[in-house]
Amino acid sequence: MQEFAPIKEGKVREVYDNGNSLIIVATDRISAFDVILRNKITNKGAILTQMSKFWFDFTKEVVPNHMISVDVKDMPEFFQNEQFEGKSMMCQKLEMLPIECIVRGYITGSGWASYKENGTVCGIKLPEGLQESEKLPEPIYTPSTKAEIGLHDENISFERSIEVLEAQFPGKGEEYAVKIKEATIALYKKCAAYALSKGIIIADTKFEFGLDRDGNVVLGDEMLTPDSSRFWPLDGYEAGKGQPSFDKQYVRDWLRANPDNENLLPEEVVTRTVDKYKEAFALLTGKEFK
Ligand SMILES: Nc1ncnc2c1ncn2[C@@H]1O[C@H](COP(=O)(O)OP(=O)(O)O)[C@@H](O)[C@H]1O
Ligand SMILES: [Mg+2]
Repeated sequence: MQEFAPIKEGKVREVYDNGNSLIIVATDRISAFDVILRNKITNKGAILTQMSKFWFDFTKEVVPNHMISVDVKDMPEFFQNEQFEGKSMMCQKLEMLPIECIVRGYITGSGWASYKENGTVCGIKLPEGLQESEKLPEPIYTPSTKAEIGLHDENISFERSIEVLEAQFPGKGEEYAVKIKEATIALYKKCAAYALSKGIIIADTKFEFGLDRDGNVVLGDEMLTPDSSRFWPLDGYEAGKGQPSFDKQYVRDWLRANPDNENLLPEEVVTRTVDKYKEAFALLTGKEFK
């Protein structure tokens, strides 16, 4: 049997090279306030992989995506066991574009901080008088460049995203920049409207795109999981204050209340958090997680 070792180990995910495809595995690790906690959140990886699968299926007519299969039977033998089952996605290998495509439907986080300071988010002027967590009149596209490990991603203007792409793909910068911006907004609008109808606000999210062998722009990475997005419960939503995170609310609250935590959560917080992931999955997909 062919053995595999991850070519990349992120905070939460692992990537395996399989020739023309990649196998992206979402682990049960959880991070909060930028550190990886010592607990494993049972089934988190599988729930997030199945959630990405749901969204890739839901939007495949709008934008082509990299998903090939989430069934380990379609993958090399090495992956056909409990360690990988449910949490692995085989994907078409892409040449990734060096832009993180962020879209914001609500004003929060770094966007809110910047708006309070000067009325703009990533150079985009917003109407006066917005409150924290308020819905924006229209979703805004706020790209960033992927920083080297340890540094924060840098927010850039749309014009700058053209230059960054042009530098790597001469003659194609504007075309790619426009394509990924339009795809990002279209995907967000369709999915946020759907999620809202199921009781979940997707405040903002990040997509990544790449080029397939024929030079087509294809959606990659993970899609609309709580790890790449801010999910808020619609129930109790009210502008004028920060909103609880759908999935990490108990984790953050407990860490804040227990500064000497040594990055280890009590079992009760883990259980409640697992239940939140299951709840989000069931609300969005209409199916119980098994
Ligand atoms: N279809 C794909 N082809 C090639 N690379 C991909 C594809 N989908 C996602 N990636 C890349 O795989 C990596 C996933 O790693 P991740 O755990 O998110 O760590 P990080 O975001 O810190 O790089 C990212 O660099 C992402 O751009
Ligand atoms: Mg990533």
